[in-house]
Formats: sequence, C-alpha cells, structure tokens
Amino acid sequence: MSGSWEEFFATHLPPTDFEDNRSLLKEFCERHDRQGHKIVLVTSGGTTVPLEHNTVRFVDNFSAGKRGAASAEYFLEQGYAVIFMHRQKSLEPFTRHFNGPKLLDMLEIQEQANNTTIRVKQDSVFALAPVLSRYQAAHAAGAILHIAFTTVSEYFWLLRAACEVLAKSGPRALLYLAAAVSDFYIPKDSIPTHKMQSESGAPVIHLHLVPKMLAPLVNLWVPNAFVISFKLETDENLLIPKARAALEKYKHKVVIANMLQTRHQRVVVVTKEANQEIVLTREEVHAGVDIEAPIVEEIIRLHGAHVTSRGAR
Ligand code: PMT
Repeated sequence: MSGSWEEFFATHLPPTDFEDNRSLLKEFCERHDRQGHKIVLVTSGGTTVPLEHNTVRFVDNFSAGKRGAASAEYFLEQGYAVIFMHRQKSLEPFTRHFNGPKLLDMLEIQEQANNTTIRVKQDSVFALAPVLSRYQAAHAAGAILHIAFTTVSEYFWLLRAACEVLAKSGPRALLYLAAAVSDFYIPKDSIPTHKMQSESGAPVIHLHLVPKMLAPLVNLWVPNAFVISFKLETDENLLIPKARAALEKYKHKVVIANMLQTRHQRVVVVTKEANQEIVLTREEVHAGVDIEAPIVEEIIRLHGAHVTSRGAR
C-alpha cells in the first residue's frame, strides 16, 4: 500500500533551493501569462531514490532525458514558453546535439607563430549554426526556464510548485510529464545517515510505493490545464490497456504510450477517442529525425482544440 500524497509531502523536506525555484517559476509564468503565451511544463529524465541521507548510493532508472530535451525544442519553435524541469545532468535542449565528444570533433586548432586559435570546422558549421541560432533566440526571448531535480521527492516538490503558478494560466497551460518517475521509495526514517558499511553485511532494503501524483495534479492542482502523461512498458501486451486505464483513472487528456526498446521510433498517442500511432521509418531513424517533432505537432493540435473548447485564446 502507498501512503497518501499529503503524507508524502509531510514526511519529505523541500529541496534546499526550493524558494529560489518557486520565485523563478512565479516570475516566468506571470511574465508569459501577461504576454498571452501558452506555457508548457516539460518534465524530463529519471528520479533517484537515495539509500543514505549523506547520499553515496541511490536507486536510479534508465531515462537519458532525450524525450524531454528534444520536445522542449519543438515547443519553443512553436512559440510556447517552456519550463524545462529536468534531472540534473540529463540531456538538455540544444546542448543535447553536442553531447560527449561531438562538440570537440567539430573544432580544429590553428597555430600560427605565437597565435593559437580554435575554429569550427567548415563542414560542422552547417550542423552548429541552426542549433546555436535557435538556442540564442530562445534565451534572448527568456522563453525557457531550467529547473533541476535529482531525487523523487525534489521532483514532486518542484512539480507541485510549478502547478501552483501554472493553475493561473487555466487551459493555456500544458503539462507534458515525460520524466521517468520512481514508483518506489524508502521512507526517511529507514535510511541511514551515513554511507552503508559492507562490514555490516548485505543490507535488506524495503521499498514503499510512491503515491501517484497524477491524481491530485489533475483534480486539484491544475484542474483546467491540458495534462499529458507518458506510459512506459516492456511488455507490448500491457502497453495500450495500461495507458487507457490511466486515462480512465486520472481523467486527464492524453497518454503517450511507449516501449522501452523502441521509444525513440514509435509511440502511441492515446486519447479517449483513439489510439494514434506515430512511427519513424528506417530512413528517418538513420537520418537522425526526432520522433518528438511529430509528437509535439500532434500535442499542440490537441492543446489548441482544448483551449478553444474552454473559450480561451
Ligand atoms: O528520457 P528518455 O531516455 O528519452 O526516455 C523517455 C521516456 C521513456 C522516459 C518517456 O517517454 C516516458 O515514457 N516517461 C514516463 C515513464 C514513466 O514513468 O512511466 P510510468 O508508467 O512509471 O508512469 C506513468 C505516469 O505516471 C508518468 O507520466 C508519471 O509522471 C506519473 N507518475 C509516476 C509515478 C508517480 N509516483 N506518480 C506519477 O504521477
């Protein structure tokens, strides 16, 4: 059995930089609301479950944050203001294109007399320039706010704070909950303060269920927003039934269903009315096309209809 969401907040302290993030969220949403912009909250990456208070070890998951980082770029392209709430050190919009050694491979050193310069290789300029220009435009317009979390409790505190300010945008707020959120945690009073010692023998760790935050989020925190959750499975037979069950249970608008192994080539957009498959061809995959482009296009269409149906603009 999981405890209630109220109990979860009562037994977990907010992150140390919580008030700073709350102010940033408030300023960002109020500014974009005044300008009549639609605002999307994109959550991205995995959450950790610490095994010690002074954390050396933790339980984690697979998520790299590609879905959230790529989607954020496509929302920006379509004029949305983006709150990018992401796991610290997971992929981020724009810089994701130059992850690992890719950036260094684009550069060359030129030495002339006492003068050393670093240049972008000519054939890399075409790859770098459009990304750099979109990055600079988004930042110059103040259109993206980065908020970072690591643990599952930090994620929930920040998610609720974002909802508090997004509620004021009514139907123009879009929540795109792509983070891979832990379903299990270890209660605070069961976690040792210091690093677990191997001399004490193999630890027995008892995990508890995390309450599903979608329930209060949809019903209480942002009742007029357009909420999209994701459903990840590894057994194809469970994917659509579980996505549909989530829609029926939480009564939000869309579930994007994906399988672990094929998540970057195929998703199913599940609504009350239909299951719509989005699939990349083999050629598109090889060409590096992001499946997030057609996903975001479809979500923006559905969000537009939601806004109109609520008589907003
Ligand atoms: O980051 P990538 O490597 O690119 O991978 C993308 C992705 C696979 C992580 C993404 O597409 C995805 O599917 N994210 C959601 C994964 C997930 O947590 O699925 P779930 O079935 O465990 O949870 C379903 C929904 O419930 C989620 O939207 C989550 O926000 C919500 N949830 C989960 C746990 C919890 N305690 N409360 C919740 O509300």
